[in-house]
Amino acid sequence: MSVLSAIRDRFRREDVSLQLDDIQALILRNRPEPYVGLHAMLHIDEAEGGRDLIARLAEHIPSAECFTEDLDAWTGVAISHAGLVALGVPRETLETFPLAFQQGMAARADILRDVGENAPEHWDEAYRDGHCHIALTIYAVDKPALDRAVKTAMAEFEASSGVTLLGTHEFGTDEEAKNPFGFRDGIAQPAIKGSGVQPCPGDQEAIAPGEFILGEDSETGSPLGIPQPEAFGRNGSYVVLRKYISRVGAFNDYLRAHAEDEEAQHLLAAKMFGRWRSGAPLGLAPERDDPELGADPMRNNDFDFSDDARGLMCPHSSHMRRMNPRDGKMTILTDVKIKRIVRRSSTFGPKWTPDVTAADDAAEDRGLFFIFISARAFDTIEFLQQEWVNRGNFIDLATERDPIVGLHEEPGQFTIPDEPARRRIDGITTFNRMAGGEYMFMPSLTGLKWLGRGDWA
Ligand code: HEM
Repeated sequence: MSVLSAIRDRFRREDVSLQLDDIQALILRNRPEPYVGLHAMLHIDEAEGGRDLIARLAEHIPSAECFTEDLDAWTGVAISHAGLVALGVPRETLETFPLAFQQGMAARADILRDVGENAPEHWDEAYRDGHCHIALTIYAVDKPALDRAVKTAMAEFEASSGVTLLGTHEFGTDEEAKNPFGFRDGIAQPAIKGSGVQPCPGDQEAIAPGEFILGEDSETGSPLGIPQPEAFGRNGSYVVLRKYISRVGAFNDYLRAHAEDEEAQHLLAAKMFGRWRSGAPLGLAPERDDPELGADPMRNNDFDFSDDARGLMCPHSSHMRRMNPRDGKMTILTDVKIKRIVRRSSTFGPKWTPDVTAADDAAEDRGLFFIFISARAFDTIEFLQQEWVNRGNFIDLATERDPIVGLHEEPGQFTIPDEPARRRIDGITTFNRMAGGEYMFMPSLTGLKWLGRGDWA
C-alpha cells in the first residue's frame, strides 16, 4: 500500500476543520513515491518585478484541498525575510515576524552550531549573505510531469523582470524513496488535527493544527503569533531549508572499519539511523531487516520505546531516537509534541552503493535538502541543533553527537547499548556537511496574492 492510498483511506471530509483551500498543498501533501523534483533559488532585484512574479506564480500553486487526491506535480513557494524586504513589505508587517526569521539562518549560525566547516562562509553562493529570497519547490511523480511544471514556472519567470534565478537543483529517488545513504526516509510524520486524516498506527497522538498552520490553535490552546495583517499571515507556515552534502564514501568506510562483514555493516548502519535501510524500525525488527515491514505505512511506524528503555534494540543515540524520543524518559525534559515537524526533504545524486569510498566523496554531488514545516520552525531547529543533534547530555552521553547529522569537529563516538557491556565506537566524522540554508515563510494562497498586489501601498 502506498503512503498516498494509506492517507486517502483514513481521510474523512467531515473531520476537516482547516481551511484547506487556502493552504499551500506542499504543507500537507506527502512526497510521491517515487518522486522527482526541482528546487529553484531566486533573488529579487526590484520590488515591483518581484511582486509581479509572486502574483504570477500564485496562479500555479495548488491548495491543500486536493491533498489526498492524485496530482502529477505541485509547486510550493516560500520567501525569506530579506525577500519580503526586497518586495517592499512595510516595516509594520516585517516586525510582526519572529526575530530569528528577521535575522535569517546565517546570522543564527552560532545558535544553530553551524560553525567550522558548516559555517555560512563555506556555504554555496546561492545561500550566502541572504541571497536566496524565494525558494520554489516542485514535486512530481515522474520526469515528464516535472518538465511540464518547470516549463510553466519558467514561462512566468521569463515574463517577469527584476528577479534573478540564482540556481536550480534537481532531485529524486526511486519507488523506495531511499536517501543518499540508501535508507528509506520521510516515514514518520505528525498527524495533524483538523486535516481530516486519522493517525496511522503508531503515529502518536494527533497534534494541534496551530503547531503547523498559523492562526489555528496550538498545543498551548491558543494560536501562536501571526504575521500581520492577519489576512497575510493566516494559513501560512514557516519552513527551515538546510542543504546537506552527504559523505557517503566516508560513511561506507566507517562501516567497513567497524563491522567485520556485510551483515554486520548493515546492522551498524541501522543502529546509527534507528531503522534498517528498508525503513523497518529496530524496535520491530531488532535483528535483521524486514523489507515488507519497512514498506508498509500501516506498520512501519507502529512502535514506541516503552519496551526498550535501555536502548538494547534502538540506541538512544541513533538519529531517529534522538529526533523523536517518543515516549522515552529523558534527563532534559521537554514536550515532544511541540517538537514534531512535517518533513519534506529531498534527495539528490546517485543511488547508494556499498563500493563508494571516501576517495570518491569530493567528486560526487550527493546529498539531501532537509526541509521541514512548522509554525515554530525556528525555535524547533535551534533547539534540535543545540540539544538533540550536537549534545548527548539528555541521554546521559555527555558530548556524544548525532552520528548522522552532528557536526564532528573532532572524530566522535557512537554508543550502542549491549549486554554485558555497551559498545563504544570511535571515529565518527561529519557525514553530512551543511552547504547552505535559509529561514522561510510559506504564505497562504491569500497571502501570496496580498504580496503580489502590494496591498499595503
Ligand atoms: C542529510 C541529513 C539527514 C539524513 C540522511 C536523515 C535521515 C533520516 C532517516 C533515514 C530517518 C528515519 C526514517 C524516517 O522516519 O523518515 C530520519 C528521521 C528523522 N529525521 Fe533525519 N535525516 C537527516 C537530517 C535531519 C536533520 C538535520 C534533522 C533535524 C535537525 C532531522 C530530523 C529527523 C526527524 C524529526 C525524523 C523522524 C523521527 C521520528 O519521528 O521517528 N533529520 N532521518
